[in-house]
Amino acid sequence: MPEEKSFHMTPDEFRRHGHAVVDWIADYHSRIESFPVLSQVEPGQIRASLPANPPAKGEPFDTLIKDVETLILPGVTHWQSPNFFAYFPGNASGPGILGDLLSSGLGVQGMLWSTSPACTELETHVLDWLVSMLGLPEKFLSSQTGGGVIQDTASSAALCALLAGRERATQYSSNKKGCDGRLVAYASTQTHSSLEKAAMIAGIGTQNLRLIEVDKNFAMRPDALARQIDADKLAGLTPCFVCATVGTTSSNAMDPVKAIAEICREHNLWLHVDAAMSGTAALCPEFRHLQNGVELADSYNFNPHKWMFTNFDCNCFWVADRKALIQTLSILPEYLRNQATESGAVIDYRDWHIQLGRRFRSLKLWFVIRHYGVEGLQHHVRQHVRLTQQFAEWVRNDTRFELAAPVPLNLVCFRHKGGDEANQTIMDRLNRSGDLFLTHTKLNGKLTLRLCVGQTHTQERHVERAWERIKEEAEKL
Ligand SMILES: Cc1ncc(COP(=O)(O)O)c(C=O)c1O
Repeated sequence: MPEEKSFHMTPDEFRRHGHAVVDWIADYHSRIESFPVLSQVEPGQIRASLPANPPAKGEPFDTLIKDVETLILPGVTHWQSPNFFAYFPGNASGPGILGDLLSSGLGVQGMLWSTSPACTELETHVLDWLVSMLGLPEKFLSSQTGGGVIQDTASSAALCALLAGRERATQYSSNKKGCDGRLVAYASTQTHSSLEKAAMIAGIGTQNLRLIEVDKNFAMRPDALARQIDADKLAGLTPCFVCATVGTTSSNAMDPVKAIAEICREHNLWLHVDAAMSGTAALCPEFRHLQNGVELADSYNFNPHKWMFTNFDCNCFWVADRKALIQTLSILPEYLRNQATESGAVIDYRDWHIQLGRRFRSLKLWFVIRHYGVEGLQHHVRQHVRLTQQFAEWVRNDTRFELAAPVPLNLVCFRHKGGDEANQTIMDRLNRSGDLFLTHTKLNGKLTLRLCVGQTHTQERHVERAWERIKEEAEKL
């Protein structure tokens, strides 16, 4: 029998090229400090270097890796560089990368328990582990009334929470009839913009998302929240949902979850707690006080893809009452019917989020947790917090600079006292130099620099050098 024609990579070729790719990644990580952290290309430069037309004939795999090196790398901002201090981190790790690779290798689609039981059960199990690792309330356990699910991002988790809050408040009728324009949701002026997007998508409308004022530390004011809810009720509106943030994006402000939760209880509003980056700190018992009151929340989420060494994307989302979430998001077309689902004995995660299909993301999380152990994760989180506090101390002791917000964990908001232009100049010069990358925000109307320590391999020497470089640029003003 003649062999069937095939263009596929054979297992032997895959093995050879796979080893080369893993070698390339390992080499990339060892030489990462030699690259400018922020990509220095101009808009359009990368596309201009690519062929206009796709190849008619397949190319040797070796040339693909070479092209990554020469054509792609110049356009990469090195998020995994230890000199990356911008935004919030998107850190990765060896076990995370390998878990992700295995997930691609298995190539399963875990929309239903029956489409790959391990994909569902490992996820449930690891999310239960995390409940105890983070000191979260037991009601979030799958063995209780709640349960956890991996979403792609905190934005999706917020949308699911808002939808469930909307449905609970309308006795599950908005899904059928649409929204009547009377539902109201609440966040603070400092809440992440994903809540505004969620309000748009959920049919609440951005005008009906009340942005509650904050105190001098940029945390939501519970008294202002309570007043706004009362006013909305008096106006005949239907409050349904509040988002409290543990660690805002702009300044790492901590909303007073307990006081907010009590107001939610009083009015029967869904409370979602967004701990996108700072939730990782709860691995260490000494930081858990920052989210006191989480035991009263209806839902909670954090991103291991930010600070817990797990490659993007990986958001962990828990609800206290899984029935409310499932009732909000489940639809069962005939072609997905199966015995396991009918038996009621399994979780079908397609009912826990927006999309149908899902990757085997729990593998990378499982690998990370097993590789580091709780002890290893705690060690690195504590190290990042210690380095950040040290940096904050240097800023405090330099009369040219000032801190612009409290520093509860691993983000320092600071500014040169010379005004917005001086800070912009310092930041632009640093980022152009490629030595480090930091970003800014505005606090009280003033341009403020942000330095966030959370990259996997950031050590004391990197933070020291960052401060030296900042001072050097300040000298040149
Ligand atoms: C507090 C907070 N919430 C939500 C998000 C959105 O994260 P994601 O990219 O996972 O949607 C961020 C991103 O930085 C964040 O800081």
